[in-house]
Amino acid sequence: MVAKLRVGIIGVGNISPAYIQGCRAFDVLELMACADINMERARAVAEEHAIPRALSVEALLADPDIDVVVNLTVPAVHAEVSLSVLRAGKHVYSEKPLALTLADGRAILDEAAARGLRVGCAPDTFLFGQHQTARRVLDEGTIGTPVAAVAFMAGHGPESWHPNPGFFYAPGGGPMLDMGPYYVTCLVNLFGPAVRVSGAARASFPERLAHTGERIPVRVPTHYAGTIEFASGAIATLITSFDVWGHHLPVMEVYGELGTLTIPDPNGFDPREVRLMQPGTEGWASLPLAYPDAWKRGIGLADMAYAIEANRPHRASGDLAYHVLEIMSAFATAYESGQYVTMASTVAQPELLPLGLGERVLS
Ligand SMILES: NC(=O)c1ccc[n+]([C@@H]2O[C@H](COP(=O)([O-])OP(=O)(O)OC[C@H]3O[C@@H](n4cnc5c(N)ncnc54)[C@H](O)[C@@H]3O)[C@@H](O)[C@H]2O)c1
Repeated sequence: MVAKLRVGIIGVGNISPAYIQGCRAFDVLELMACADINMERARAVAEEHAIPRALSVEALLADPDIDVVVNLTVPAVHAEVSLSVLRAGKHVYSEKPLALTLADGRAILDEAAARGLRVGCAPDTFLFGQHQTARRVLDEGTIGTPVAAVAFMAGHGPESWHPNPGFFYAPGGGPMLDMGPYYVTCLVNLFGPAVRVSGAARASFPERLAHTGERIPVRVPTHYAGTIEFASGAIATLITSFDVWGHHLPVMEVYGELGTLTIPDPNGFDPREVRLMQPGTEGWASLPLAYPDAWKRGIGLADMAYAIEANRPHRASGDLAYHVLEIMSAFATAYESGQYVTMASTVAQPELLPLGLGERVLS
C-alpha cells in the first residue's frame, strides 16, 4: 500500500471541479484543502465539493499536512505561484502552461531540483487509455517507422462559453500556449523529443466579443501554423487557431511506413477510438483499448505520487512541460526571425504505462 499524497489546490475556478473529481478518482491522492486569491470562492468551492478546509493561499502554503499543491491559477501567475509552493517545501503540479517564458520555466525546474522536490504539469491526457493504446501500437511497430503526423485545433475561441475569458487573449493565452500543450505533449509522447520548429503566427481580430458582452482586447497571436521535426525523424504539421469558424480537418493522425493511425482528441475526453488503416485491408479498424477508459485529469498527479514512493521519474513532468513550452514558443520566434528554431532542450520520451493497471490504482 503506497502512502497517500496529501493535496491542496490553489486557484479554484472553472477547471477545479475536474481536479477535485480527479483527486478522488485515484486511491493514492487525498484532497485536504483549497485556496484562492478570492477567499469567498475558496469557501464556496470547499462547501460545494465537501473539501475539508478552505484556506488563504498563505495558510495553505504553511500547512504541514499538505505534501503537494495543484496550481490551477491563471497562466500569468503560474510561475510565481509554483515557485512559492516549492519555496514552502512542497511538490507542485501545475496546470498548463508551466510558465509564460522559458526563463520562468527554468527557474521552476531549478528551484525544485535544488530542494529535491517534484514538478508535475498538465496536460496528463496523454496518459488516458486511448493515447497510451496509440503509443503502444506505435511502439509495437504496427504502422512501421512513423513518417509524419498532423494535429489540428481550430475553433473560434473560448469567449463563447468561458465565464472569465479575458486571459485567453492576454500574454500566456492564445491558442498555442492554451491549447498547444495537449497536442504537442501528445506528439512528444508518441515520437520523443523535438529538434527543430518552423512556424507562422498572426492575430486576425483586434478584439473579441464575449458571451458576457465584455469586449476583450487581443494581445497575442490567435492563429499559428508550422512544423515540428522530431529526433526520430518524424515531421508533424500543427495548427492551433482561435480564428476559424468551421473546418473538415482531422484532429490527429500519424502516418507510418506501414499504415495510418487516427488519434482521438487529447484535449479532454474524446470518446472516439484509435483507428488503424493498413494497405491491403478494407477501410479502418477500431483498435481495442489496452488501458482503462475511465481515467481522468489527475492521473498525472497520481503517477507522480507513485513515482515519489518508488523513487522513479514521473511522466507528466516539469521537464516534459518545459520541452513542450520551448516547442510552442518556437512557432512565433521562427516566424519573427524567418528561421527554423533549433531546440535547446530535450527530454526522455515518457515511459509507456504498463498493462494491467486498475481504474483507481496505477501500480
Ligand atoms: N477552464 C478549462 O476548461 C480549462 C481546461 C484545462 C486547463 N485549464 C487551465 O487551468 C488554469 C485555470 O483555468 P480556469 O479556466 O479554471 O481559470 P479561472 O479564471 O476560471 O480560475 C482561476 C482561479 O485562480 C484564482 N487565482 C488567480 N490568481 C491567483 C493567485 N495569484 N493566487 C491564488 N489564486 C489565484 C482566481 O481567483 C480563479 O478562481 C489555466 O491555466 C487554464 O489554462 C482550464
